[in-house]
Amino acid sequence: MTGSRLLGTGSALPERIVTNDELAAQIDTSDEWIVERTGIRQRHIAGDGETTATLATDAARKALDDAGLTPADIGLIVVATATPDNTFPATATKVQNALGCNGGIAFDVAAVCSGFLYAIATADSLLKTGMATRALVIGAETFSRILDWEDRTTCVLFGDGAGAVVLEAQGEGTQQASDAPGILASRLHADGAQHDLLYVDGGPSSTQTVGHLRMKGREVFRHAVVNLSDVLHEVIEDAGISAGDIDWIVPHQANKRILDATAKKLGIAPEKVVVTVDRHANTSAASVPLALDVARRDGRIKPGDLVMLEAMGGGFTWGASLLRV
Ligand code: UT7
Repeated sequence: MTGSRLLGTGSALPERIVTNDELAAQIDTSDEWIVERTGIRQRHIAGDGETTATLATDAARKALDDAGLTPADIGLIVVATATPDNTFPATATKVQNALGCNGGIAFDVAAVCSGFLYAIATADSLLKTGMATRALVIGAETFSRILDWEDRTTCVLFGDGAGAVVLEAQGEGTQQASDAPGILASRLHADGAQHDLLYVDGGPSSTQTVGHLRMKGREVFRHAVVNLSDVLHEVIEDAGISAGDIDWIVPHQANKRILDATAKKLGIAPEKVVVTVDRHANTSAASVPLALDVARRDGRIKPGDLVMLEAMGGGFTWGASLLRV
């Protein structure tokens, strides 16, 4: 196999929407501050019975429908999440069981906000080896369950949700040219020295608790713009295209100002950047596939378009993938 291509997308959001004003009634913040500093206007928050696995399964079903496939067609499930239902087994195995396609490969990827980029590159690599023919790659999170709701510097920034894509392996001769559909190039990076800028202060082996998210936002912001523009340049060079060839950037949705600054550094018009942070806030690994699904379903991203996915998160980890849809 020479690579893989996108067959369908789907997404799922919890029913409950929480506005900035609702948060401002509980903590010392304001709609004005949140909108001006982040672009966020609201977020979806999981309720009773909604978990990372249920959201992931809903998104997966919609992606399968979109692809015209059934669960039996899927041999590989990769779930990117930092908020699994259980420490183990992998949330991917819960999704597999809920879909009823047990027997294939299923595992989780932990790379926090860039988890979906790690997951899509991993799935693409496995499909190339022939270990599976079709894959569900899912980003799903319930960050509301690891937030310190008294810490205004973090709790206003995140939301819950899931997004999924179906990938199919392609054989020899189907992905030779950059105008053929498929994943054209991916790059991943990590820098463990930056652990303390964005992390969760708990875990099974350290504190035996789940812990809460902690972030030095201003410093993360600074690293994000530099790391993202660097990795975007790498993928552009690997694929042998120029930035002007890109039809859409689907970025991780952490902060509208990061989206604007990264696009500007790359010389890409803001109209080509898919923005959902206003409605979804930062849904970590779910944000890229959620935004991709929104822009495909509303008709912005069309077959044949060249789409750049990119994200950066805790670790630090960061990455980008270029695909022709
Ligand atoms: O998804 C993983 C990657 N994560 C990110 O990319 C997040 C990157 N960082 C950011 O998006 C921004 O740094 C934040 C949105 C987190 C913060 O924006 P900022 O412009 O960097 O603000 P700041 O942290 O410099 O804080 C400015 C002021 C501070 O007050 P003082 O010290 O100037 O008096 C904060 O205490 O804003 C205050 N502040 C708030 N005020 C009202 C912090 N949070 C809030 C809040 N409401 N929720």
